[in-house]
Amino acid sequence: MAERHTQRAVNRLWQVACCLAALGATVTLTACSPKKSGPGPTEPTPTATGTTPAPTATTPPDPPPTELEKVQQQLVEFCGCDASAGPPRPELSPQAPPRDVSLQDVGTCSTRQTPCHSCFSCFGWQLFLTLNWPADGGSKFGAPGATAPVIWEAYKGASEVFSKSVPTAWGSAAPKRIVATSAVIHLTEALQADNNWLTDRSGNVVYYESRVNEDEFEYIVANKLYSQQGLYQAFTTGTGLSLPDGSAAPYEEGAIEVKAAWRIVPEAERAAMESRYKLSTALIGDAPNPVTVALIGLHIAKKTPSSPQWVWATFEHEDNAPDAGAADPSKSYNLYDPALAATYRPNQSDPPSKFDSPATPRTKPVQVSRLTPISAVSQQLNALMSRLIKLRFADSVFQHYQLIDVQWAKEPQATQAKPTAPLPTGSPMPATLANVAMESYMQEKNSGGGALYLDESSPDYGKSSCIGCHATAAITPTFAGVTIAPGAPRRWFTDYSALFFRAQKHPN
Ligand code: HEC
Repeated sequence: MAERHTQRAVNRLWQVACCLAALGATVTLTACSPKKSGPGPTEPTPTATGTTPAPTATTPPDPPPTELEKVQQQLVEFCGCDASAGPPRPELSPQAPPRDVSLQDVGTCSTRQTPCHSCFSCFGWQLFLTLNWPADGGSKFGAPGATAPVIWEAYKGASEVFSKSVPTAWGSAAPKRIVATSAVIHLTEALQADNNWLTDRSGNVVYYESRVNEDEFEYIVANKLYSQQGLYQAFTTGTGLSLPDGSAAPYEEGAIEVKAAWRIVPEAERAAMESRYKLSTALIGDAPNPVTVALIGLHIAKKTPSSPQWVWATFEHEDNAPDAGAADPSKSYNLYDPALAATYRPNQSDPPSKFDSPATPRTKPVQVSRLTPISAVSQQLNALMSRLIKLRFADSVFQHYQLIDVQWAKEPQATQAKPTAPLPTGSPMPATLANVAMESYMQEKNSGGGALYLDESSPDYGKSSCIGCHATAAITPTFAGVTIAPGAPRRWFTDYSALFFRAQKHPN
């Protein structure tokens, strides 16, 4: 009843926004529309030679469209985003991340037709382009061999936000430190983050890091959500936890969270990898000396005014893994070695774990394959984006990354700020989604952890669903000195963010 009421309110909001859009007003329910002014110009429309034609006295016939213009037009047609809203296709220029993606044509979306979903796919690609722009604003997009940080790498690291003390101010980033958390994530009360691991073709473990954007960071700081005490207070006497969606000042971008998967670059492969991978230098675990690492997977989650269940985009390097049974013996995959038997264990649903048997040494490569082929929509868009990137930045490493898919809620539902039960999933589209470098073992079925797809009667039960699992992310502040009355809540759900379980007890 309450949910239906909220749904009606949300629908009304869209209708109002549509009317405003029809009147030519600037509305926020738009795809790909930067609201903060970006540091540079928007994408130019160069001619074939890349120069601006000199003005002439007579009007010459229109020149034929350039290759770049053709791709740009194809993208406009492909994306199908609402025309009254912002740039109608992903733009290759330094700019603020797109704030929202329109659900105005929600009727089309709920019948699962392609056009609406493809606008979300384009939104995902726009996020990827924007977040991977060089943080210094001036360097080339995806310059081979560059290890300088891109925008998302300048975000605040999760371990910096949740330490034993109040986090340092935005912009004072510590050196990148990545850790062997898990590829398989066990979402239980006591999260066993290192329970399972993923070993790449070279015998190195894959490493992960998570970061938050400035809006999310400032919201956490303003509400003291970086400590167990602060969280407990927020959920009991305070205003709860509702991360900004970008609809209200001062948080006009909305919360963005990223999780990256990195592969150590073997010295012998360095030259070959430089031209195809986004590289970085990182400290591994507690090791003192940095190593060069290559980006093989990137999750980007963004809360938006129209999507309280967030929009979940996931990208991989194109060389990660073959589709099941379709390995190319001549190819060098990050997470699959054609020289090893395809049946080599562990496979996708039998993860190597320090607790499970058979005990598997961390140096044994795991044979990962993709169990759900990349959708036709993503493949078409990836082909267009790869061409667009190549035409603008011929040697950019980002032409070698691909969108796996974008997951979003077809029936978005408002959430409470102090929920003590799992959050609504809002009918995710697509129902399941996995990145083979991050949810490697959850592609097929629950790999033994707390991988939750909420509806047990669903054929997809146990498979990776970004929203399905993140809806269950919760915290139980466990610090001493608080007496919880019998029957009072002791567990709260954290707005689809799995970061808050990291909060520690701060010394008083
Ligand atoms: C089985 C549960 C599960 C599934 C499925 C899952 N995640 Fe997560 N995710 C987690 C947990 C737990 C963490 C925190 C621990 C970690 O990073 O390993 C996390 C971390 C993240 C982060 C870093 C910020 C944060 O909230 O901690 C992002 C971004 C993210 N996931 C996106 C995704 C996307 C996109 C998908 C779908 C393609 C996805 N996740 C699928 C459980 C899950």
